[in-house]
Amino acid sequence: MRAALLGLMACSMLAPAAWGAEQDYSLIERGRYLATIGDCTACHTAPGGKLMAGGRAIETPFGNIVAPNITPDRETGIGAWSDDAFYASMHDGKTARGENLYPAMPYPYFTKTRRDDVMAIRAWLNTLEPVVNRVDANQLPFPFSIRAAMTGWNALFFQAGEWQDDTQKSAEWNRGGYLVEGLAHCGACHNAKNALGGDESGSRLQGFALQGWFAPAITSGNGVGLDKWTVDDIVEYLKTGTNRFATAAGPMAEAVSDSTQHISLADLRAMAVYLKDQKGPAAEKRQAMAASDPVMQAGEAIYVDKCAACHTMNGAGIARLFPTLSASPSVEARDPLSVLHVILNGTRAAHTPYAPTSPAMPAFGWELTDVQVAAVATYVRNAWGNAAAPVTAGDVSSVRKNLAARRE
Ligand code: HEC
Ligand code: HEC
Ligand code: HEC
Repeated sequence: MRAALLGLMACSMLAPAAWGAEQDYSLIERGRYLATIGDCTACHTAPGGKLMAGGRAIETPFGNIVAPNITPDRETGIGAWSDDAFYASMHDGKTARGENLYPAMPYPYFTKTRRDDVMAIRAWLNTLEPVVNRVDANQLPFPFSIRAAMTGWNALFFQAGEWQDDTQKSAEWNRGGYLVEGLAHCGACHNAKNALGGDESGSRLQGFALQGWFAPAITSGNGVGLDKWTVDDIVEYLKTGTNRFATAAGPMAEAVSDSTQHISLADLRAMAVYLKDQKGPAAEKRQAMAASDPVMQAGEAIYVDKCAACHTMNGAGIARLFPTLSASPSVEARDPLSVLHVILNGTRAAHTPYAPTSPAMPAFGWELTDVQVAAVATYVRNAWGNAAAPVTAGDVSSVRKNLAARRE
């Protein structure tokens, strides 16, 4: 029966009334859409595994936590949970037994989601195939393995509460804020975190290093973050994974592939309108390094030899194929982690039907020394109007170690 239901859902040609009340269908469809915005599958589905049957190990400052089975199986999933218990997991970060969840589950953001939306997600989850799969979520070392320890964390860093509309702002702005700050949990990666993984107060959306990448500031104004991006630029990036400024790599490529490309244009617009209205602190004024600097000269020589064929001599790149390095905020980001990650390991862009060719950036870690990578990174961060702190060979060496430690 459930399998049949799934089959029906996959086939949008069938009239909703095919199996029941129209209202149920729209509730379930809405839940499916909202679960995509929440990107539940990114964590709760293992690579190659059954949908939501328990998934990936999530890195936390304390150790790894595996996302549990949230299929409707009554024994090993959440089939036996009451609606209140499900709401409490999203709103308060609690298990059905009232214990604390770890914030590897993004409840500090999901708490903003209205109860009717949470219930729609539940209605959709209830239609999934129940999978028997017992997941031992908690793989943390003592004392972090004790869930009660999170009571202190919550007291310090967590405030439960649904999104409250700001009546001074438009309905579109409020819809965008509701999604960005809540279900879409953009801050899980883009908010600066303290050593315990809590959000630093006052640095919302201002950028943070995670999983070997730097998620740059996505505030706007003061010459920082998305200042030069229009609403349309932001929508295009989230829908296709690329635009005239940047191409999403690493965790953002996954976020685009799993989640944002499936968000409606109206909702993406709302998110972009909200982001364009978030101000971060002014950028520290930097002077570009002089072109005559020996490091810049060494970097330019490597660039001409290894990079210019794709990114072009003036760093402008080729639209939709090779990203610009001259107008990319992530190239100039205060932390060069993503730039170094891309140069050392290469990367592949997001898969979306809009940008299906997904060109790849080759890895250079094997052929360039730390000094050479530092020089070419310093060059791209200071050529063509860019201005950012130089990169040292020591920086490159520590990023190499960071990346090697992540390789299975
Ligand atoms: C970034 C990763 C991540 C995302 C995204 C995520 N979760 Fe989770 N979730 C987790 C982890 C990890 C746990 C386990 C935490 C723990 O055991 O303390 C968890 C726990 C849960 C639980 C409690 C299950 C149990 O057996 O205790 C529920 C329910 C849940 N998630 C639902 C969702 C839903 C619905 C979504 C999408 C709207 C979602 N999660 C998105 C990582 C995630
Ligand atoms: C899993 C972590 C993660 C999540 C969740 C996430 N991002 Fe990102 N984001 C990143 C990383 C890492 C980058 C840098 C990617 C790169 O260098 O190509 C990035 C880049 C971006 C950029 C490009 C910025 C630039 O200067 O090039 C935008 C815009 C963006 N994210 C918006 C969002 C929005 C909006 C959300 C929520 C819907 C979101 N992100 C959720 C990790 C994440
Ligand atoms: C064969 C073509 C090719 C060559 C050669 C090449 N790149 Fe790339 N590069 C790409 C593509 C394609 C991407 C986008 C892929 C992605 O983001 O996943 C990219 C992405 C990047 C980015 C990330 C841009 C952003 O907005 O986040 C940087 C930085 C970069 N390249 C620097 C270099 C440097 C430095 C060299 C020379 C050492 C180089 N590339 C050589 C094709 C190339």
